[in-house]
Formats: sequence, C-alpha cells, structure tokens
Amino acid sequence: MCGIVGYIGDKAVDTLLIVSLERLEYRGYDSAGMATLNGGKLGIRKQVGKIQILKEILKKKPLEGQLGIAHTRWATHGEPTTENAHPHTGCKNEVALVHNGIIENYAELRDELLKEGHILRTDTDTEVIAHLVEKHLNKSLLVAVQKAVKRLEGSYALAVISIKDPDKIVVARYRSPLVIGIGKNENFVASDASALLHLTSNMIFMEDGQVGFIAKRRVKVLDREGRPVEKKVKIVKWHLLGGPQKDGYRHFMLKEIHEQPAIIRNTLQRRISQGTERIYFEHTSITEEKLPSISRVIIQACGTSWHAGLVGKYLFEKYLRLHTEVDLSSEFRYRMPVVRGDTLVMAISQSGETADTLAGIRLAKSVFLDVLSLCNTIESTIARESDGVIYAFAGSEIGVASTKAYTAELLALFLLTIHWGTLKGMLSKEEAHEMVEELKKIPYYVEEMLDNQKEVLECAERYYQSSNFLFLGRRFNYPTALEGALKLKEISYIHAEGYAAGEMKHGPLALVDEKMPVVCIAPKDSVYQKMISNIREVKARKGKVIAIATRGDEEITKLVDHTIFIPPIREEFSPILAVIPLQLFAYHVAIKRGCHVDQPRNLAKSVTVE
Ligand code: AGP
Repeated sequence: MCGIVGYIGDKAVDTLLIVSLERLEYRGYDSAGMATLNGGKLGIRKQVGKIQILKEILKKKPLEGQLGIAHTRWATHGEPTTENAHPHTGCKNEVALVHNGIIENYAELRDELLKEGHILRTDTDTEVIAHLVEKHLNKSLLVAVQKAVKRLEGSYALAVISIKDPDKIVVARYRSPLVIGIGKNENFVASDASALLHLTSNMIFMEDGQVGFIAKRRVKVLDREGRPVEKKVKIVKWHLLGGPQKDGYRHFMLKEIHEQPAIIRNTLQRRISQGTERIYFEHTSITEEKLPSISRVIIQACGTSWHAGLVGKYLFEKYLRLHTEVDLSSEFRYRMPVVRGDTLVMAISQSGETADTLAGIRLAKSVFLDVLSLCNTIESTIARESDGVIYAFAGSEIGVASTKAYTAELLALFLLTIHWGTLKGMLSKEEAHEMVEELKKIPYYVEEMLDNQKEVLECAERYYQSSNFLFLGRRFNYPTALEGALKLKEISYIHAEGYAAGEMKHGPLALVDEKMPVVCIAPKDSVYQKMISNIREVKARKGKVIAIATRGDEEITKLVDHTIFIPPIREEFSPILAVIPLQLFAYHVAIKRGCHVDQPRNLAKSVTVE
C-alpha cells in the first residue's frame, strides 16, 4: 500500500505531484507528504491526514523546484502521525525518500544505526533506509541507494533525492510495484501507471531487484548486479470507463455501482463476436488447445475477489466438471499444495498488485504450474507475471469497497465457463447460446434495480443503527452472503457475518434474537426451499429478516419482514444481480451513519504488503 510519485522536469513540481498523488490516494490516506529540491535546498511538507490537508499546506507554503517526490501513506510501522509521514530524511537532511513496502529487518538495522550515532526520530521502518543511504552517500546517490538496498530484507519501492546529487531521482524496486513514465524533457515515477496516465502513455515497469534513476532527459535502470538492463518501454493506453472523477455522484462508490450496467454491456459486446457468438479472451497464452487438458483448478484471491472465486468454483464444477479449489491467497502462499501438471492456478485481483495473491502466483510458478489471472488493472504486476490474463474491463475502481470490479469479475467467470464448457464439449452450442442470451439481459436488470431503490432505502433507514448483521445464502449465493457482509462492515463499521445458511444451526443461530437483522439471499433456485426453511428457523427465534427474492415471489413476502426483489434469472447468474441491492444497502447505511464511504478507516484500495 502507500502511493509514491516523483517528477523531474520544468513544470511546477508541487502542483504536478499533488495531481498524481490524488490518483494514488486509494493506496492509503493516513498521511501525505512531499519533498522537492530547489537551488540546492531540500524543502519538505508533510502532514497527518488526507492529501487535501497537504494541499492546503502547500497553498500557504508552496514548494518550488525542478524535481520532487511525494507520498500518501497507509501506516504499517508506527502510528499515522505527521512525524511518521513520508518523506523521511537522514540526520543531515541531505537525503529525502519515500517508500512503499515493509522492511522486515528494520529493528536490527535501527540498532546498528543508533550504535553508529545516527539519530532516528520516527517509529517507521522507512527512516532506517534514509539513514542507510546517507551513510553510504559520497557523490553518487545511485551508488548509495544500491549499497543501502543490499541491506534490506522485506519489500520496497523507493524514490530518493539528495542535495548532493541534485539532478536525479533514484528509484528501486523489490516486491512493491514501481513504474517509470517517460516524457519529453521530463520523466516520472509512480507506484502504478494510473498516477501517470494523464501525463504519458510510455512506461517502463521496473522488475524486482532493479535500481535506477530518472533525470530530465535520461533514464537508467540497472539489475541486481549493477548491469544496465535493456529498457522495455510499453505503451499503456487505458481510456476505459471510470476515470478518477465522480461525474456528479456524491461518492466514487455510488458512481461505480451505477457504472455496472454499462461495464457489463460493453464487456459482452467486446467478448462475444456478433453472428458467431464466439467468446474471445485476448492476452492469454493459455490456449484453446490447452484448456480442455486441464483437470484441476486452484483459484486464489483475497477479499471480494476471493468471493468471486467461490462463485467460480460452483460454475466450474457444475458446467466443466472440473475439480476446483478456492483458497485465500494469504493461506495458499504458505500451503504445500499437492499439484500435478494438469493443474491451473487462477489468481483473481482487481488491483493486480495484492501482495499475497502475487506471492501465490510465484509459488505456483515455482512448481511449474500455469497461472491464468483475472485482473482489472491493465499491465499490473499480477497481469504481467501470469502466463495468461483475462481483464475484467471495469475501468479504474477508486472506492475502497469493491463493487463494479466484483460484478465484472463474475461476468468474466460466466463467460469463461461458457467458453471453456464449449471447448470441452460439456456445453452444446444451443446451451451456450441460451446462456449468452441470458447474460445479455443482465445490464437491463441491473439498471432496473438501480432505478428503484425504494426497498433498499427503507431497510437502510430501519436498520442503520443495528450493531450486528447476519447474511445467509446457499450454493451460488453463499459467496453473495459473504460479499454483502464484507461490504457492510468495511464501509459502515457494523459487525456483519456471512454464512452458508445450512451452517446456522451449527452455532450462529444462537446469535439470533429480536434485535438481529438477517439478510437472506433466497432467489427461486434449486435451494430455494432450503432457504425458506432457514428463514423459518430465524423467524422462530424472532430475528428480523430482509429477503433478497425473485420478483413475483408471493410466498416469501408472507414470511419475512422486508423483501427486496431482483429480476428472475438463471440460478448460476443470480449472484451478479443479488449483490446489487447489498452494495446499495451498505452504501446507504454508511451514509446514514456518517461514515467515509470511499476511504473507510484502516483500509486501502491496493494491499501491496503482507
Ligand atoms: C473489497 O471491498 C475490499 N476492499 C478488499 O477485500 C479487496 O477485494 C481485496 O483487498 C483484494 O483486492 P484485489 O482484488 O485488488 O486483489
């Protein structure tokens, strides 16, 4: 997490850095800071709180110069305070640096530096890097950083400046992403391409172990051993739906919820060829010839993407008869998975930068397994390190609570199932056609639900002061229950649990009383009657039931306290509809509780540390 940006050129450095930094605020927002070099002098402004506060400080006390670095923080070591905010400096104020990552041996390095007489002023792991660079700094900042990073264990993306070598920004990457943007008489560096896309499309994605620098008219990248590497400049054009503007919506999350019909419609048009109804997936080296020979899939992901993976398991088992496991990446990376050559590892990630998911990919590759990723962020590290990638095409998602990326991931899994099922001969042309026709209805159905939020609003009004919630679902909508609970807890800070409805009587039922709202996802599907029994169990304990039910279901309305209808759809596609009212519910509850919807406390959009 944490966002880094750096600039060298002729433009007003503070304004340019702030604009780019704002595009990275999703990575963390505990504190923000900037350092520039101007006429041989180092200027620093930093402050606890969001980038807006730094902006106000810069208005009163601007920073001038030809080069600068800036940072938005998600605290790992040390509380979010002004002191702990980046940039950090050494004892002599000759060096300033910003860092994303975690230095695991920082305590040992700190002791060593203290013994040598360095004065460390913060609780951060980052500060030790500034002192290490200072210690090795003679003339060349590049050499000093090369020496310093040799001592680091953990992960880092670094941008470093110094008054002793004032014409460059030295950069280094190990297990935290860093991209160099190439301009004309100016160059840039950032944690990810989205911070630079308004400035340039020409990017160099740094690899682990590389160190280098950007100067006004020069860029140099060296490998671990200090040998120059051939720079691969990629043209990154990502002009899709969902830019960093709110477009009149009060919050990014609300905007992103409303973008879902257009994203689904566009992706269907893009992936399904007119006339032949063939489904296309570009950017994948896992070929059509190879897919039918895969007999086992391990899906690994975190958070909302893990929920999408769970839906994937039900799909792959039902339609492809594929042995499918779904693991949390943070667990998968430390397991000793029993694998064979016919196993495909799928990684699902909106950001494409999640540290645990990336580690899972590296584990899979170390045992020679093919990795297919489902990512939203184009050219992200996960996309680049995988053998094949399916893009979700949801556009950049800014709200920390994932909404449109989730439904885009679900859609990609639906399409992949139909595609793969056809290739394996498990789905006939007619069945595939029917499924595609059903998918085409989804954008209209989502629009319908977004146009009528009356019941959702009523439920939000009635229950926003509750302290606990249960979400229940079965089969394809068990993941929907997990996702509904996650959305509510992350943005409204209400304790919420998602359960497989059949598990209720194995413990959680003890929690139910007249104060407990229970959201039951119960569309008319193969487990509908089982859900009805579970609802009766909750009602018998006086719980308050909000049902997500299929339009026209009279039976359920008689049983429950509130019903939110979704349009009728094939069972396996119902999660994409059932989650919409849950996203809206979480949003409206959070608003009523006065919570910060787009940037909930303690969280960050991109989790690049373990
Ligand atoms: C979802 O609302 C979350 N904020 C979070 O769980 C997220 O899905 C998780 O961190 C995984 O991120 P990724 O999809 O970018 O890998």
